[in-house]
Amino acid sequence: MEEHSDAFVFFGATGDLAYKEIFPALQVLIQQGHFDVPIIGVAKSGWSLDRLKERARDSLKHHGGVDPESFDELSARLLYVDGDYQDASTYELLRRALGAAKRPLHYLAIPPSMFATVVAHLAQSNCAKNARVVVEKPFGRDLASAQALDRTLHEYFPESAIFRIDHYLGKEPVQNLLYFRFANSFLEPIWNHEHIQSVQVTMAEEFGVQGRGKFYEEVGAIRDVVQNHLLQVMVLLVMDPPASSDAVCIRDEKIRIMRAMRPLEPSCVVRGQFNSYRREPGVFPDSHVETFAAVCFYIDNWRWAGVPFYIRSGKCLPVTATEVFVSLKNPPHSVFGEAVPSQANYFRFRLNPDFVISVGARIKAGGEAMVGEEVELIAHEDAADNRLLPYARLLGDAMRGDPTLFNRQDAVEAAWRVIDPVLGNVTPLHKYEPHTWGPAEADAIAANIGGWHNPRPCEKLPTWIPRGF
Ligand code: BG6
Repeated sequence: MEEHSDAFVFFGATGDLAYKEIFPALQVLIQQGHFDVPIIGVAKSGWSLDRLKERARDSLKHHGGVDPESFDELSARLLYVDGDYQDASTYELLRRALGAAKRPLHYLAIPPSMFATVVAHLAQSNCAKNARVVVEKPFGRDLASAQALDRTLHEYFPESAIFRIDHYLGKEPVQNLLYFRFANSFLEPIWNHEHIQSVQVTMAEEFGVQGRGKFYEEVGAIRDVVQNHLLQVMVLLVMDPPASSDAVCIRDEKIRIMRAMRPLEPSCVVRGQFNSYRREPGVFPDSHVETFAAVCFYIDNWRWAGVPFYIRSGKCLPVTATEVFVSLKNPPHSVFGEAVPSQANYFRFRLNPDFVISVGARIKAGGEAMVGEEVELIAHEDAADNRLLPYARLLGDAMRGDPTLFNRQDAVEAAWRVIDPVLGNVTPLHKYEPHTWGPAEADAIAANIGGWHNPRPCEKLPTWIPRGF
């Protein structure tokens, strides 16, 4: 049994991720009663502890609501270290704030370019001993830098203490992809190239970069969400059944399928940038960073030979929704003489903001003629309200030392191998109007499957939904 961490340190305490995700997650962990440790925020903002507490209250007000009892406990446990991440004195202050803690967890909710500096300082200041480190995505900027970052982390931390976080893996609807596939027997016989025509994953966001221009300039859509969140979703959809649900079995199956993913070819990638992005604070006036990406790739193994897989994501699109759309092949022969049905059977997994699993089918329409209509059979539907916040789930797991929902280095590297050939400006950047489905060029790569499936807006809006960060 792993030992529980005895202090929670988060770098980037005054930042956006802390505001939108970490404070709400901490409140949940306190409500659950497993979080009686010091909580230490670190940032370089010139703030006081009181100001950080105010920020925490405001964060909760806008993200789920303040639970007065838990908030009081959060405030009482909260400490703040203000200082430059490059400056050794910041870590001396941190060491002092850690007091008697012997097994702290350090969560690096900061831009990727700072990871190596911070871990080196943690080690030099004696804050890394017996500690765990949680590293935000993207892990590296490409394969080579991910390998270099991994070497740096391993200078100070053993593998069992490194947690590469991808909050999509903490989302219940994402975990349900694995559960739904392997807890049922009806899916596996058809889950292959003989029955499946194509698979699409779309992550659409109605909003832009929301003041995160500086961060976004370091990443762009491909590094921000395709290399991690969306490839991980794809992996859960296509991997072979693991022998059990333990961390090693699941991670081993994931890496097997990732190694079969064919690296992206520039001709199968369309990048876009919404008009006005260059005027966002923190964005270079001549930026070539993409806010939209659409890609198509193949998986070179027996199960998936020839099936095209599509991933698309963008900021300033018409809706906020993440949806998987698995199209089945048409029946081999048209018994009823109907024109080819406009929509083949499909499975739809809606992952955000609401959660739906449904199957598209055809039934006979009323009347004498044998003609049909499309219906959707809903297997499951709920709003986001009922679910544990992904960050609460993952940070709780990391505090307990459970790695199951975190990425192993081999998976991170396999994902970069898929993405590496199209990083940088190897493909053109097309402009698009905000609140459209991206540049027209993106339609061309999905033309041979009848075009993209555009997720609909959320009909049953939950009272509170996370709106990206
Ligand atoms: C983050 C990205 O990892 O995921 C953001 O940095 C994106 O750009 C966010 O908005 C989306 O997360 P969710 O949970 O709102 O789908």
